[in-house]
Amino acid sequence: SDAFKLGLAGLGTVGTGVLRLLDDNADLLAARAGRPIEVVAVSARTRGRDRGIDLSGYQWCDDPADLAQVEGLDAVIEVMGGTDGPALDLARASLSAGRSVVTANKAMIATHGFELAQAAEAAGAALLFEAAVCAGTPILQTMRDGLSANRIDRIEGILNGTSNYILSAMERSGEDFGETLAEAQRLGYAEADPALDVDGGDAAHKLAILAALGFGLRPDFAGVEVNGIRDVRAADIAQAERLGYKIRLVAMADLVDRPGEAPALLQRVRPCLLPADHLLAGIDGPTNAVLTLGDQSGPILIQGAGAGSAATASGIVADVVALARGQARAPLAVPAGQLAVAERADSGAR
Ligand code: HSE
Repeated sequence: SDAFKLGLAGLGTVGTGVLRLLDDNADLLAARAGRPIEVVAVSARTRGRDRGIDLSGYQWCDDPADLAQVEGLDAVIEVMGGTDGPALDLARASLSAGRSVVTANKAMIATHGFELAQAAEAAGAALLFEAAVCAGTPILQTMRDGLSANRIDRIEGILNGTSNYILSAMERSGEDFGETLAEAQRLGYAEADPALDVDGGDAAHKLAILAALGFGLRPDFAGVEVNGIRDVRAADIAQAERLGYKIRLVAMADLVDRPGEAPALLQRVRPCLLPADHLLAGIDGPTNAVLTLGDQSGPILIQGAGAGSAATASGIVADVVALARGQARAPLAVPAGQLAVAERADSGAR
């Protein structure tokens, strides 16, 4: 049957991971999608760089925004990164051309997700971003579909692998922050700008997306109170341990009732003392975890790799399979029925 045709913008760690996954698992993906999945056109900053991947079979676009116009594409994958700039241009151009967008770009969705979801809805296209939060760990699909019968009361998570790796390493070695960050960078977990990891910005992007999805609001990244792990000392960790606690960088969101007003959305990222038996206290190393409290389901803990080429590609291609099957609901950040809630809460929630 007809192939599901893709454009791919960005050929770094994540983009090459997507090409590799589509190739390695081509048969099972075709079976699950009901048709072959095929990348037709690609774009990246430099064409010549050796990525260990043969690009000769793909149409090349110098300008990623041109992918929005390539003949016959069903969807565009954006894995360039960046809050604004080429990634946002491409997402807007693709959606307004009626093409669905799959992205791993947490900064862009946390900042522009509402506008893009509206554009998707207007165009009858889909905007999917499973890989933007916890890479291949299927937290968004779980919240959107698996927990769709619940009112979500609270979301708590460990959303930055690098910080968690650093805290776990400090726990073990008794060394301070500096040495362990260098280690996390060597292992390839850290962002290009590691300040996003250790100062909490990366976790805040992901929390804003989770809160939007869980509570049916527009993403409010600017409203996240953020404190990172820069000031945490090995001595703090040792003292906490003596008191029976672990220190973790926890991202938390809940709706706080206010008499006579719309509930306030409270979003915070900060180092927390967790009792050693708390579900998130046992999350070690570069792992991510999200604990979602549904009013019917009770606590749901989902954990897994929060970064890396193959894990991120897993989240992206899961979205592609959903699209190819025709199962993706149109506007994902904010389902249509919740737009009104979003407007209301936007005037009240701060
Ligand atoms: N630098 C991020 C982390 C990678 O450490 O979790 C994925 O966002």
